[in-house]
Amino acid sequence: MVILYAQSMSAVQKDIKLVETYRKVDQNMELRCISARSNDSKVGELLVRFQKDKKLLILDGVIVEKEFRRQGVGTYLVSFAEDLAQRFSAKKVLLCPFPVDPSAYPKKELIKWYRKRGYMLNRGLMFKSIK
Ligand SMILES: CC(C)(COP(=O)(O)OP(=O)(O)OC[C@H]1O[C@@H](n2cnc3c(N)ncnc32)[C@H](O)[C@@H]1OP(=O)(O)O)[C@@H](O)C(=O)NCCC(=O)NCCS
Repeated sequence: MVILYAQSMSAVQKDIKLVETYRKVDQNMELRCISARSNDSKVGELLVRFQKDKKLLILDGVIVEKEFRRQGVGTYLVSFAEDLAQRFSAKKVLLCPFPVDPSAYPKKELIKWYRKRGYMLNRGLMFKSIK
């Protein structure tokens, strides 16, 4: 297990550690699963895939445990994915706004949530350019 970030989040008022739980690397692709933990409990998860040939980071999933939502954890995970994209020299982050928990967070709200974080909708997918 690799601890990636261990910093205090003022929004959450808790120490959140980002821990890499899985990594798969091959010639064209790099997959990483990152778990957000607080006091040894899992508070969220992030799954990203970097497509080397297209210089594209695909955000496959962001999930925050129900009791930790609306505390800034999701925003923190997305900004970590964007940091990773920058480190990989990716030009874009791409995602499909598919709600895992539609009763709690319907698609319309999810799209709004990503829009507020700088993502644009195009043909059902959302993307953000990385500078
Ligand atoms: C979508 C999801 C990841 C968002 O995670 P989250 O941790 O709740 O997100 P954040 O706390 O960063 O942002 C949620 C809102 O809470 C607000 N917020 C942040 N800190 C806050 C605080 N201390 N008090 C009150 N509100 C706060 C944010 O301003 C934000 O509102 P906004 O969208 O109007 O800006 C989460 O709802 C989830 O896991 N959904 C189910 C899984 C899913 O569908 N994932 C998407 C896959 S693509």
